[in-house]
Amino acid sequence: MDRAVFEAIVAQAMLAPSAHNTQPARWRLDGACIEVHVDLSRRLPIGDPDNRDLYVSCGAAVEGTVLALAARGFGADVTLMEAPVEAGLRIIARIVPKTTADTGDVVLAKEVSKRLTHRAGFIPAPQEAFRNWRADHMTLVQDASQIEWLAGQIDIASARVMRSRDFRSELLHWMRLREGDPNYHTDGLNREVLAMDAATARIAPPILGGRLYDLLSFLGLGPHLSGEAARSRGAGAIALFHWPESGSMVNAGRVFYRSWLQATARGLVGWPAAALADDPLTRADVSGRFSIPADRVLFNALRLGVANGATPSRTRLSVREVIV
Ligand SMILES: Cc1cc2nc3c(=O)[nH]c(=O)nc-3n(C[C@H](O)[C@H](O)[C@H](O)COP(=O)(O)O)c2cc1C
Repeated sequence: MDRAVFEAIVAQAMLAPSAHNTQPARWRLDGACIEVHVDLSRRLPIGDPDNRDLYVSCGAAVEGTVLALAARGFGADVTLMEAPVEAGLRIIARIVPKTTADTGDVVLAKEVSKRLTHRAGFIPAPQEAFRNWRADHMTLVQDASQIEWLAGQIDIASARVMRSRDFRSELLHWMRLREGDPNYHTDGLNREVLAMDAATARIAPPILGGRLYDLLSFLGLGPHLSGEAARSRGAGAIALFHWPESGSMVNAGRVFYRSWLQATARGLVGWPAAALADDPLTRADVSGRFSIPADRVLFNALRLGVANGATPSRTRLSVREVIV
């Protein structure tokens, strides 16, 4: 494969979402085969100790590669693998281009550059936006009272995980709250994508990093500090994503990304709420309430709706940094 074509494919594939925008996927060209690797230095050891989000993020990158090939008229034979770690990298997939692209992939590939995480809030979505949208891996919650309940649970779950000072300091490590931060436009979560005003951005580091948060949390104010409920409630639906417990989280990431792109095609924006799946108590409550089978694991949730305003700009590493 021509080097310029490979770089163009990677540039499109790396638009896939990743937890905390850690962008853990790396690409290597081996003859005609595109390898996708995980860069283990981009793990979140505190927030994601089991590497679930790491592999979901890499799965989205694998799917992004398949779609980038489809955009150029190629199909893809994907082989997932679990190889030993070499120099901090582990190969997770080999993708061999085929002559003919899947028509559905060609259509979905058009959504890749439009998809973004939108955290600023939603305006009411027409119910038609969700019509005839079903998938085995997705439970679509549209009932207003259930959305209200989930909105509360997201803040309760966030408050539980945020109780850990180590979790907060790992989160802060990936936050880019000063525009002068050298990584403001490259990775992590900047003030703009977090839809955070300047005053909150100034006080967030000392509060998150210090004892004041512990005190507020001890006083039971945690759910208010996370403060997403008002915006979560505005979602037209919340999609709960589940996958066989024994299955590959790389494949879970592939279907998660495809569903998000399908939402984009329906005129919707998405805002994940991984805390619902991270906190074991909330995961059990949500799984029970929405009858997620016991052999499947809730691995993410996506608040879906019509954006209430402009979506933020995208922050990514350069193509050179993700090619190994
Ligand atoms: C596995 C996974 C978990 C995520 N969890 C959250 C989350 O809990 N809250 C949130 O606001 N964004 C979450 N995101 C969204 C990422 O922060 C986002 O994809 C990343 O910052 C890149 O931005 P983009 O989606 O606009 O391209 C998650 C994304 C992935 C793939």
